[in-house]
Amino acid sequence: MTSLLPATGYDLADIMRGIYGDGIIACRGAFERSLIEELGADIDLLFREAQARPGGALNRGPNRFYVEVHPERLRGFVAIASHPWVVAVCSAVLGPDYRLVEVGFDVPGPGAMHQPWHRDFASPPETARGRRLSSLAFNITTVDVTEDMGPFEIAPGTQWDLFGGDPMFPDPSLWPRYDALAERKMPKMGDISARSALTIHRGTANQSNRSRPVLVVGADAPDATNAIRHDLQISRAFHDSLPPVVREHLSCRVVERLEPIQQAHTIEGLKMGVTMS
Ligand SMILES: [Fe+2]
Repeated sequence: MTSLLPATGYDLADIMRGIYGDGIIACRGAFERSLIEELGADIDLLFREAQARPGGALNRGPNRFYVEVHPERLRGFVAIASHPWVVAVCSAVLGPDYRLVEVGFDVPGPGAMHQPWHRDFASPPETARGRRLSSLAFNITTVDVTEDMGPFEIAPGTQWDLFGGDPMFPDPSLWPRYDALAERKMPKMGDISARSALTIHRGTANQSNRSRPVLVVGADAPDATNAIRHDLQISRAFHDSLPPVVREHLSCRVVERLEPIQQAHTIEGLKMGVTMS
């Protein structure tokens, strides 16, 4: 008897232990650097396009942007969405009918400040009361992250925290708890992580002269509702070209022509940065 997941070879218990325990897991060296260089180039182009379009990039703090994109504009999308580790983690945590609901990227540029500690949305009832995680966020860095580039910080285990007041932003009186738990993540090109976006986290201040773009792919269990905040679209031609392992798990509109995405996932509390040591 084994807990290895069929077809992927990854260990179900390891995945569940990590996501339900710390709230974040990673697969180092999942992708060739060449694929990540290509991903970085695609993101650069899409970021320039988004900045040229009114409302094309959401401001998530000083010189920190979020852009939701059409997956087919990323040459590596199919390789990412069909990667055995991604399939294994989604299947393990969200069940066989998981859905990919979001594809976008964050760009913390030079001068980006600390974000306040937060989760990306309110804990849904199945998590707050049912103690079940119903969504995942995958992150792929496009650069080798160094200490001065404003690494991502996460407070392991806090996906289960319940607090009063704002459902996404714990009161500053609780910040010492998160400061004490904080782990800095310094991924390299080719690494991918998966986390519950409910695990309390923040981007830190980017003191370098380089931006640190990171791809975000969001996945839902069948009963989760994060798709409402997003507008995933693919063209008919792209739809028809997809392998089943990707096509069957995309929650999206199939359109004749791609339409500009209404960037809907504004997080009001992130627009201002936080000054701290
Ligand atoms: Fe966040």
